[in-house]
Amino acid sequence: MAMVEVCKMADLPVGKMKSVTVGENRILVANVEGKLHAMRAICNHEGGPLDEGELDHNQIICPWHGAIWDVTTGKTIWFPMKLDNEPLYAVKVENETVYVETEPLKELSA
Ligand code: FES
Repeated sequence: MAMVEVCKMADLPVGKMKSVTVGENRILVANVEGKLHAMRAICNHEGGPLDEGELDHNQIICPWHGAIWDVTTGKTIWFPMKLDNEPLYAVKVENETVYVETEPLKELSA
C-alpha cells in the first residue's frame, strides 16, 4: 500500500477536484463541503475522464456521455444503463498536502 501526493490543500477548495496518475490508473480527489473523497477518475462506461467532468456537491458528471457519479460512494446516480461502481480510495492530509492511497478501499460490485 502506498500513498501518492495529489496537490496542496490550498489548491483544492470546496467544490473543486484534482487528480493524479498512478501507472495505468487515474484517481481524483474531490472536496465536497470540506470533506475529501477519492474515486477512480476513469468512467467505466467507455473510459471518460471524470476528473475533467463537472463537480456539483457530491456529483460528478462524466464529460463524455453524461453519467452522473456519486464521488462519496462510487455509485452511479444516473445513466440509462447499469454501470459498475467506481473504486474509492483513502485520502489523507499531512502538512497541508493531500495524499491518496494507490490501492482501492474496496472493490465494489454493481
Ligand atoms: S464514458 Fe462516461 S458516460 Fe460514457
